[in-house]
Amino acid sequence: MMRCRVAIAGFGGVGSAVATLLLSRRERFIRLYGKDVRLVAVCGSRAGTSNPSGLENEDLKTLDPGSSGADFLLSSGADVLIEAGPTDFRTGAPGLDYIKSFLSAGRDAVVVSKGALVHSGRELRHLARQTGATLRISGATGAALPNIDLLEHALQGCSILQIEGILNATTNYLLDAMITDGTSFPDALAHAQVAGFAEADPRYDVEGWDTACKMLLLANFALDADLMIDDITVDGIQNVTSAMIDEWRQSRQVPKLVGRLWYEEACPRIRVGIEALSVDDLLAQVRGKNKAIRISTDTMGEITTFGCGTEPTATAAAALKDLERILASRTASVS
Ligand SMILES: NC(=O)c1ccc[n+]([C@@H]2O[C@H](COP(=O)([O-])OP(=O)(O)OC[C@H]3O[C@@H](n4cnc5c(N)ncnc54)[C@H](OP(=O)(O)O)[C@@H]3O)[C@@H](O)[C@H]2O)c1
Repeated sequence: MMRCRVAIAGFGGVGSAVATLLLSRRERFIRLYGKDVRLVAVCGSRAGTSNPSGLENEDLKTLDPGSSGADFLLSSGADVLIEAGPTDFRTGAPGLDYIKSFLSAGRDAVVVSKGALVHSGRELRHLARQTGATLRISGATGAALPNIDLLEHALQGCSILQIEGILNATTNYLLDAMITDGTSFPDALAHAQVAGFAEADPRYDVEGWDTACKMLLLANFALDADLMIDDITVDGIQNVTSAMIDEWRQSRQVPKLVGRLWYEEACPRIRVGIEALSVDDLLAQVRGKNKAIRISTDTMGEITTFGCGTEPTATAAAALKDLERILASRTASVS
């Protein structure tokens, strides 16, 4: 039976969940794709472990100091990288080095972190085309919400007229708590941090950058745009006051942080900011940590999806969905 060897870069919440889920699905991979999937290496920033015959759950409890970096993962013999390190969209590091190394070697990459894709998406796509490697990014574009699947597959053949995305769980939770319960911004944020879903430094989410990165990736990867992060007008929710909340309430409006893509003379434009939606708007019904995307098309009308899985498992599952696509295409290419 053909083997598929997987390496994971970034072994925190998502990376560990990917490993657990992958090891629990080996029978499924054999049954559906005839592939013996082995996890051959994992690493964090300073330590890792590898075994060309395959790691088991027990092996992942202790990592060897010094075993990290792109060369370490490449030398494990992995033919698929699952990258789940930190996101830095201004430099692309540290994911960029891992992704480039794998794609350059003609090996496939499933990417969860947004940084490298935002910073060097065009270069990475070009590299993948050149070497025949596959680059998949579901985990970076909304994870359990199948945003990129909709654009790449389900709406195939349509012209996309507009996208509206509520794509960040933290900001949706904060605005929802303020408008529904009258909770103040600092109290809602403190609650989200104690509950573990808002970051200790929440600026990337709260200032709208996470939403901007996801919208940019959808535009560049699914709609073949060529936008840079600085092409996007980004406003967050950090300046929302109780007086603004009162005003929205009185006018029966619901504030949402919306990433909006539209076309101007055939050029895609994106902005991220608070939009005051009518209470009757479907997107106004997106509560708590849920996310949603509404896509307007020329021939299939308006498609809206809502969702929220439990993290980090939901994001890990999105990465494994991408792995399954790779397994399926390998099966198809040998049959
Ligand atoms: N958590 C979620 O629900 C979620 C959802 C969607 C997308 N994401 C994205 O997924 C990525 C991972 O999130 P997470 O929650 O798993 O973060 P995390 O728990 O902070 O884990 C990050 C991991 O990256 C490792 N790392 C840092 N620098 C590295 C390097 N140079 N080489 C290899 N590994 C390195 C860290 O290693 P050390 O432990 O050694 O520092 C750690 O293991 C982020 O980009 C995040 O934006 C997360």
